[in-house]
Amino acid sequence: MDSPAETPDQPFRSHPVSFVRRGSRLQGRRREAWDDLAEQFLVAVPRVADADTSVAPGFVLDVDAAFGRSAPLVIEVGSGLGEAVTHAAELEPDRNHLALEVYRPGLAQTMLRISQRGLTNVRVAQVDAAAAFAGMIPASSVAELRTFFPDPWHKVRHHKRRLVKEDYVELAARVLAPGGIFRLATDWSSYAVQMRTVIGASGYFENLHDGERTGADSPLTQVWESGVESVVGGAPVREGKDPVSTGNTGVNEGVDTLGGWAPRFEGRPLTSFENKALTAGRMVFDLGYRRR
Ligand SMILES: C[S@@+](CC[C@H](N)C(=O)[O-])C[C@H]1O[C@@H](n2cnc3c(N)ncnc32)[C@H](O)[C@@H]1O
Repeated sequence: MDSPAETPDQPFRSHPVSFVRRGSRLQGRRREAWDDLAEQFLVAVPRVADADTSVAPGFVLDVDAAFGRSAPLVIEVGSGLGEAVTHAAELEPDRNHLALEVYRPGLAQTMLRISQRGLTNVRVAQVDAAAAFAGMIPASSVAELRTFFPDPWHKVRHHKRRLVKEDYVELAARVLAPGGIFRLATDWSSYAVQMRTVIGASGYFENLHDGERTGADSPLTQVWESGVESVVGGAPVREGKDPVSTGNTGVNEGVDTLGGWAPRFEGRPLTSFENKALTAGRMVFDLGYRRR
């Protein structure tokens, strides 16, 4: 498969974004962490009109300079409070780990973790990953891309805000080197199916677990069997409303014959997001692909 065409710089926010602006005020230890550690760990990104998740047109990150060394690059998108990226950086000292996140308090917490663990191979950037992948991250520069528990955007009219859709898959294909690995996880079956569908249809990726975990072994079949996703936060989905899941939300409504689900990725620590999902009885779907 050929490389996707270079994505032109897009005017800031011409498209629906995958995040909502949550409080960006920093207080206490997080404020101190930002003030003390940003110079060391935060990548400086030139902006469009001071919009703090944007990337100025034409800016390309000098990745080796940002890390002070040349090493295989792993990017985590939506790194939250930094549990996974700091864990990965500890496990993989020979790789450079870059966390992209829009939520400033999360980035402050991540820098605190980096500093507490004495890690030298992690950098963070406050940026919309889609904007970063369109130009700031050099093409074919990434050895591994991780997107764990992206915001699910349940309502059908909000699905266009989901991060992992056709344009993101194109961008992932742009930044990943041939042979590079694309890992994802979600705790919502409709998003898992969307990921499997759009990545499979793109032609840029080979599923590392093609055809595995079908039928009764599939987490999708198990979700359908349990009916767990017809309940959100303990309240049943109201009749006549869009189902949260794939439509097969009732008990014994379907069998997943396609499979293609990865085993739980060992490098992924249990975060508070995953823990909440498991406590609510939801399944976690892992996916793993190789860039062709
Ligand atoms: C549901 S949280 C999961 C956080 C973390 N991956 C975990 O498992 O604990 C999703 C995160 O993705 C971030 N996010 C959403 N859209 C993003 C984007 N376009 N670029 C970077 N981060 C994004 C949100 O701010 C949020 O912190």
